[in-house]
Amino acid sequence: MKVILVQNNPQFGKVADNLSGVARLLLDRSEPDPDLVVLPELFASGYQFVSRKEAMDLAETTEGLTRGPTFVFLETLSRETGGWVVGGLPVRRGDRVFNSAAVFHGGELKDIYDKTHLFEAENRWFDCGTGPLPVIETEFGKMGIMICFDWLFPEVSRTLALKGARFVAHPVNWVLPFGPQGMILRAVENRVFMLTANRVGEEARGGLPPLRYIGSSQVVSPGGAILARASDTEEALLECEIDPALADDKTVAAESDFFRQRRPELYS
Ligand code: ACM
Repeated sequence: MKVILVQNNPQFGKVADNLSGVARLLLDRSEPDPDLVVLPELFASGYQFVSRKEAMDLAETTEGLTRGPTFVFLETLSRETGGWVVGGLPVRRGDRVFNSAAVFHGGELKDIYDKTHLFEAENRWFDCGTGPLPVIETEFGKMGIMICFDWLFPEVSRTLALKGARFVAHPVNWVLPFGPQGMILRAVENRVFMLTANRVGEEARGGLPPLRYIGSSQVVSPGGAILARASDTEEALLECEIDPALADDKTVAAESDFFRQRRPELYS
């Protein structure tokens, strides 16, 4: 299975320019087309909102003629590649607005996941997702989805793995330094592939503390190997081959199985 992680540097609010920038990055991809493309959290809007109104104004809907430009971009990319595409964008439903990830396959919208665990000021602009934690059937086995800060709630990765996810598409806007190393443990303890797409660059808006995004988009194997990792400052297109079936083996050593040895009766 061929995976591409996109690491871009969006300028806040310049959705059309940011989408053109990602399209330019994707021109450099090798043949054959990828089976899965993962793009960062809020990859075309930018991250550092300063009001709920701003989040509402940049949010997109899927309804009829009002389907927004980021949705159209993801839809078109998935039609062109014939594969899966997962990317983050703000989504509006009625008077609610979510930090979401859209999942397309072959030009069709398959799912929208609304981020469950909002980080810092996001709590002021966005509504929390209400689940379920998504696991999507693909021709390569099940794909889990989580967004950025969700990773620091180990229950999320564990739930996705228990639901059968072999690989997890993980759009992020990481600013904290320990994400790239931390995800190695998430991959190992669940024996799944972790596919994390981050952005680079800086944002300083509206008197909020400036944010520097740490890039380092990466593919981690169920055994904890970093199969590919991008730089912490440059835009990148990270291509990687994975064998999702490796995630079916939940042993960490010959007689030690992370799933069989669980004791859920002790955990509540
Ligand atoms: C984050 O959840 N964007 C850190």
